[in-house]
Amino acid sequence: MLRFTLLWLLVFFLSLSSSSARPAPFAMRISCGARENVQTPPTYARWYKDFAYTGGIPANATLPSFITPPLKSLRYFPLSEGPENCYNIDRVPKGHYSVRIFFGLVAQPEFDNEPLFDVSVEGTLIHSLNSGWTSHDDQVFAEALVFLLDGTVSICFHSTGHGDPAIISIEILQVDDKAYFFGPEWGKGVILKTTSRLTCGTSKPKFDEDYSGDHWGGDRFWNPIRTFGQNADEPRSTESSIKQASVAPNFYPEALYQSAIVSTDSQPDLAYTMDVDPNKNYSLWLHFAEIDATITGAGQRVFDVLINGDTVFQDIDVVEMSGDRYTALVLNTTVALSGRTLTITLRPKNGNHAILNAIEVFEIIAAEFQTLPEEVRALQALKKALGLPNRFGWNGDPCVPKEHPWSGADCHFDNSGSNWFIDGLGLDNQGLRGFLPNEISQLHHLQNLNLSGNSIHGTIPSSLGTVTSLEILDLSYNFLNGSIPESLGQLTALRRLNLNSNSLSGRVPAALGGRLLNGASFNFTDNAGLCGIPGLRTCGPHLSAGAKVGIGFGASLCFLLLVICSVCWWKRRQNILRSKQIAAARGAPYAKARTHLSHDIQMSRHHNHGHARTAAENGPSLLS
Ligand SMILES: *[C@@H]1O[C@H](CO)[C@@H](O)[C@H](O)[C@H]1NC(C)=O
Ligand SMILES: *[C@@H]1O[C@H](CO)[C@@H](O)[C@H](O)[C@H]1NC(C)=O
Ligand SMILES: *[C@@H]1O[C@H](CO)[C@@H](O)[C@H](O)[C@H]1NC(C)=O
Ligand SMILES: *[C@@H]1O[C@H](CO)[C@@H](O)[C@H](O)[C@H]1NC(C)=O
Ligand SMILES: *[C@@H]1O[C@H](CO)[C@@H](O)[C@H](O)[C@H]1NC(C)=O
Ligand SMILES: *[C@@H]1O[C@H](CO)[C@@H](O)[C@H](O)[C@H]1NC(C)=O
Repeated sequence: MLRFTLLWLLVFFLSLSSSSARPAPFAMRISCGARENVQTPPTYARWYKDFAYTGGIPANATLPSFITPPLKSLRYFPLSEGPENCYNIDRVPKGHYSVRIFFGLVAQPEFDNEPLFDVSVEGTLIHSLNSGWTSHDDQVFAEALVFLLDGTVSICFHSTGHGDPAIISIEILQVDDKAYFFGPEWGKGVILKTTSRLTCGTSKPKFDEDYSGDHWGGDRFWNPIRTFGQNADEPRSTESSIKQASVAPNFYPEALYQSAIVSTDSQPDLAYTMDVDPNKNYSLWLHFAEIDATITGAGQRVFDVLINGDTVFQDIDVVEMSGDRYTALVLNTTVALSGRTLTITLRPKNGNHAILNAIEVFEIIAAEFQTLPEEVRALQALKKALGLPNRFGWNGDPCVPKEHPWSGADCHFDNSGSNWFIDGLGLDNQGLRGFLPNEISQLHHLQNLNLSGNSIHGTIPSSLGTVTSLEILDLSYNFLNGSIPESLGQLTALRRLNLNSNSLSGRVPAALGGRLLNGASFNFTDNAGLCGIPGLRTCGPHLSAGAKVGIGFGASLCFLLLVICSVCWWKRRQNILRSKQIAAARGAPYAKARTHLSHDIQMSRHHNHGHARTAAENGPSLLS
């Protein structure tokens, strides 16, 4: 009993301690192409074996940079696997995430040295590889901060015709909900793409530092930069510990503040210039800590910060603003850049020098709106039912990124609903062999559907009649059979209907026939047996259900009449025979009547011989 109570107390305190401490952030690391889970030094981070991919081929990897995780495999995506392939990862708790993808090179001599391709997260393009990426450590991966709200994340790779995308690893690391909060624009519709992270005054990259710190900071790579100009500035470093480094929401590693660049007498301005994509908005984060032993208090080092010549921060006094020496100070600002360069200048105010410990630059990307989920599901059902070959891709979102829509799908943006929908689908002459699924009717906005010239079999789903926006429907040159569903008569917007060269049979819905009078252009020729509108044969033997019931009823009535007649005739004959016998037995008084009767009998015999059979045969036609 006592043991039980102790156990219970232990459980109670354990739960108490874990509920007061923040739970560990969600972390998913995938080693692409790997058959087994792996752990990599020096952190012994755990990588899951490859899963959740839509295609591609595993291969041995060549790592382009020393910062690439030391993994042995990758997954690459030749065009035969489709122009876009994705990792679709489920069960990701709602939250804010740092998503990072490392690129690799296939370790086989015949492969392109440097594939160039695009990377998207949740339909938003976050990275385009530039030629020369293999020789820049900070270009061997793509990283972005995204909000994931629906429990899944889709990371896609889009071929651009320059080699096969090859992926070493995918990391989905939860960060603080407010990480990199930069102002009112920050939020669910915005993705921050990491453009650059620099640690100043050192030649040693800072990597895996987050792993030994607070995991809510993610896992950042800091590219080292020892000086900005050859002799214009100089590095500083310290072993002293730094206060206020690892605090919410960004939890920077202390090591980041233990080195810095300071300006010198020969060039008091401290300036750093980097190349950027023009006409984008950037979020800039500058890190300071007074680590120079010659500065002993506030007021001794004061400077302005200018971006491309415009002052963004005035009178920065690191000691005063951070509260002490060896204490972290982080400033952030948002800038809209029209040119191709970003220059950060620190301009001293009081004759002393400027200091800078680290720089982070993010491109602010408006997240793409997505395609209506029911239309995505409809296209996925169509992909399956038609047996769309891999080369089509059809992974990720059909309409976004806008640069890489699914082949064959025409997309339209709906401003009012803030989503994309499909208004056209052209899969003509693609050698498709499947059937048309009912789900096709979920493409509510479809105006144009062309599936001409394939080998599609089965029937036309009657649900197609609910896609009332359809104006052009071309299913010609396939193997469709059965009849044209009556529901197609509801397609009042239909201007063009090509059903020629199939195996369709039965009556063309009357409502479609009526449409022809309004100048619509329909082609029903070359089918097994369509009928019922001008130009096709008349629907002779193909009678409606009502007519069949009528005919059946008539035939039964005739048969009944015939039976009644035969019974009457037989009865009458019996009566005559009987009266003959009676007359013969009784003699004269009935003689006259008898001759009369026998004449009658002969007449009726003649009559029967001549007409009774024909009457029976003609019965139905006479009745009808
Ligand atoms: C990958 O490398 C291993 C040896 O390290 C080799 O056995 C294997 O065949 C290679 N796989 C491929 C696909 O080249
Ligand atoms: C970034 O700067 C904005 C505006 O100056 C400020 O409101 C915000 O708190 C800063 N973010 C962080 C995480 O310090
Ligand atoms: C940059 O930000 C401004 C104001 O927030 C916005 O109007 C503009 O569209 C943004 N530009 C880009 C390229 O995102
Ligand atoms: C459908 O595609 C075929 C083959 O590409 C083309 O000939 C036909 O004109 C298209 N149909 C319509 C209605 O545009
Ligand atoms: C249509 O063709 C399929 C075979 O492709 C056959 O199973 C089906 O019975 C046919 N349906 C009609 C209505 O002829
Ligand atoms: C209708 O389809 C047939 C082939 O099935 C074709 O020969 C004919 O030219 C088409 N008619 C029109 C008006 O397009």
